[in-house]
Amino acid sequence: MALITQAPRGTQDVLPENSYKWQYVEQTALSIARDFGFHEIRTPVFEHTNLFQRSVGETTDVVQKEMYTFEDKGGRSITLRPEGTAGAARAVLEHGLLAGALPVKVSYVTSCYRYEKSQKGRYREFHQFGVECFGASAPQADAETISLAMMILGGLGLSNVALHINSIGCPSCRARYHEALHTYFEARKADLCGTCLSRLERNPMRILDCKSPVCHGIAAEAPVMLDYLCDDCAEHFASVKECLDAAGIQYVVDTHIVRGLDYYTRTVFELVSDQGLVVAGGGRYDGLVSELGGAAQPGLGFAMGIERLLMVMEEQGARFPEAPVCDLYLVSMGQAAAKRCFALATALREGGATVECDIVGRSLKAQMKYADKLGARYTVVVGDNELETGRAQLKDMTSGSTEEVPLDEGLYSILRQKLLDRELAGVADLFGSVAEFV
Ligand code: HAM
Repeated sequence: MALITQAPRGTQDVLPENSYKWQYVEQTALSIARDFGFHEIRTPVFEHTNLFQRSVGETTDVVQKEMYTFEDKGGRSITLRPEGTAGAARAVLEHGLLAGALPVKVSYVTSCYRYEKSQKGRYREFHQFGVECFGASAPQADAETISLAMMILGGLGLSNVALHINSIGCPSCRARYHEALHTYFEARKADLCGTCLSRLERNPMRILDCKSPVCHGIAAEAPVMLDYLCDDCAEHFASVKECLDAAGIQYVVDTHIVRGLDYYTRTVFELVSDQGLVVAGGGRYDGLVSELGGAAQPGLGFAMGIERLLMVMEEQGARFPEAPVCDLYLVSMGQAAAKRCFALATALREGGATVECDIVGRSLKAQMKYADKLGARYTVVVGDNELETGRAQLKDMTSGSTEEVPLDEGLYSILRQKLLDRELAGVADLFGSVAEFV
């Protein structure tokens, strides 16, 4: 049988040599979000299709062109989630969380699926870190959400990412805007793509984020929502900006942000890298909960693309934690030594050290070679002599220096001390380089 060697287009494998970077990004984001009171929610990877039709919107690119939708064996229409907000909103509604203390703040790390043209930074399976806050209507909530997004970027060491904000109003002021857009696009409809022609009647705002270059060019000159905001929406937007100013969060007002999903109202924002890559997007969605059948509750949130965050971090030379390495490799010679090493490894691992020993039955030389390949920090060779005396040589694989150690819990305390010393030296190095920088 032929070997199946290719993953589907638009998907990526995260190999062990990189997964620690993903864990770092995810844990940093979740932990900073926790400081803001957001706690993790996990929702299914698939939902009923109508959830996304209702929330993301029938006329969006996501629903019209990009969803992975299929019928399950029970004849239900099922869709792999294209984003995290709809599932989170469905879950908090279904479990009655909105009937309890408000606001309800949830965070998530999820895989998402969109049948998009795959290219650098755009995948068919991608991952988002996101937060959603339900039951908060004050402009401070918008500013808090934005500040969380910025703090996560800061926590990951990203500085060259700009905050773009806009307001896209509420259904009442949007009606007038739709009219203006309709008039504008009607006069240019000969050049619009087929999908946008149907959007012209149903939802002209969606033409603004069509990915076709011609529609995009036409949309660039279209009227902007900010000129049509009602008094309440204008006041809300002004307050959000004041809150951001007060907190020293820099932003640019970008009237072209409309976001590609229908549920947004009022504040919308995007975080854009200096290379023009949108690493995060979000905003307010005060009509979403009622659209899903719940009692009206305001809401807002954002999501960051983890692949894109990692790309920008690599580009900007952001610092990642050190790749995990093996602290100690126990090299054994003979059956009795192998058993002793296994027992020792178990005890050291219980104490939290990263320890490996031979599980292949390799020769001494091959074990040493493997320890070297692993990048083991220390090795200990155990043979008959060491078994008899209960003592062995601990070798520092970087400096090559050796020292005699006991083959019992004494080894644990020595190893622990050495690892702590290394860690402190690392922190001292970091301080040194910061001091140099300052
Ligand atoms: P979105 O702008 O569609 O918003 O996606 C959020 C982020 O996910 C984007 O800024 C980007 O970094 C990443 N992303 C989107 N599509 C792809 C793709 N095909 N490949 C790689 N990365 C991608 C939402 O999904 C909203 N649910 C965000 C939100 C949460 N709004 C309120 N709460």
